[in-house]
Amino acid sequence: MMGEIRHPGGPMVCVVGARPNYMKMAPLLRAFARDPRLPGAVLVHTGQHYDLAMNERLFADLELPAPDLNLEVGSGTHAVQTAEVMRRFEPVVDDLDPCCVIVVGDVNSTLACTLVAVKKRVPVAHVEAGLRSFDRDMPEEINRVLTDQVADLLYTTEREAADNLAREGIEPSRVQFVGNVMIDSLVAHRARATPPAKTLAAAGVDPARMLGERGFGVVTLHRPSNVDSPDALDESIALVSEAAAHLPLVWPLHPRTRANLERCGFMPRLAAAPIAVLEPQGYLEMLGLLAHAALVLTDSGGIQEETTALAVPCLTMRENTERPITVTQGTNTLVGRDRALAADAIADILMHGGKRGRVPELWDGHAADRIAQHLAGWLSRDGAGAAAVPAPIGQMHVGRARAGSARG
Ligand code: UD1
Repeated sequence: MMGEIRHPGGPMVCVVGARPNYMKMAPLLRAFARDPRLPGAVLVHTGQHYDLAMNERLFADLELPAPDLNLEVGSGTHAVQTAEVMRRFEPVVDDLDPCCVIVVGDVNSTLACTLVAVKKRVPVAHVEAGLRSFDRDMPEEINRVLTDQVADLLYTTEREAADNLAREGIEPSRVQFVGNVMIDSLVAHRARATPPAKTLAAAGVDPARMLGERGFGVVTLHRPSNVDSPDALDESIALVSEAAAHLPLVWPLHPRTRANLERCGFMPRLAAAPIAVLEPQGYLEMLGLLAHAALVLTDSGGIQEETTALAVPCLTMRENTERPITVTQGTNTLVGRDRALAADAIADILMHGGKRGRVPELWDGHAADRIAQHLAGWLSRDGAGAAAVPAPIGQMHVGRARAGSARG
């Protein structure tokens, strides 16, 4: 039955699916546990990422509890993966009768679990809402647009996100600017980051090879647009190899990228350049590498933000970014696969230090606390901030009095 939103008294169900979700969920779970007004949280891992290297080390580093449930969906086409998450998440919602579902980021699991919950009229809170690349070739963009359309609460990392949401007809009362939970993780763990020399030695790389006068750069690439087609991969490697001519590079390889490099026979090109190829790293190792890098070459969303917070110059190998604040305020420069642009930016970084940047508003390590605080008021609706919080979707236009008493 559609229409009335359900307000069952069950737990908060928190969803993770893939690597970039973990650093967002870890501080949220801690903040939820600290707030006695919130019900208990159940952590569901969809199993979208399943490799040990993509999971267990990160969970340990981030002090994330083991998932209460793992749906073990594994890889597949977008349709298969999304459908499989939905099929396996539905009985979880039926069993647990959650008071709300918390999703983060923009991966297939984010959208799949949102769709299941909202159709059962279980309220959904989307953390990291409103980011837009305006590039529908990115599967994440579709996930972002659709998740934000139907989720009840939209927690944003930058003020401009509210403009994107307003353009899509989303009621401003659903949107809360809270800051960046990914940076909460960075702030919480920075002091424990693994020194690069240790990470390199553990990977069998002589640290002396990498830690010379100019320092080293870090590379991460995994976007289908950069690594799936042989032509794009060829261009990506050409750019990275040119960068390696200026300073040695450390490249932890995403499994998608490794598989494609091997399939195309490109691995020897990396071996020929001063590039140390590593397995996917833990969070503390990655944080140590990023914090000490002279520059970073990436197509990741999260790393654009982390380098801005760390004040490390970042060259993003994409034509656009859903995180424009990292360019306007932070240390990020978009270079796509344009080798001339990248060469200019690298020369500027090596000679003058590159873009200085500043840390954006509310990227202060306390975003998860703000979310917990807001959510506690929203779920109780009789707390101090009750008048300031929006009604669940479906009751938006019914009137505040009724919305205010909607939760039993
Ligand atoms: C997913 C997210 C992307 C995120 C990225 C971080 C979507 C649409 N994409 O992309 O937003 O930035 O995670 O890594 O949700 N594989 C393994 N082991 C694993 C997981 C994947 O070997 O644990 C391999 C498989 O061959 C798989 C491929 O990597 O086919 C891609 O994995 P998938 O989860 O489909 O997408 P990602 O490219 O990782």
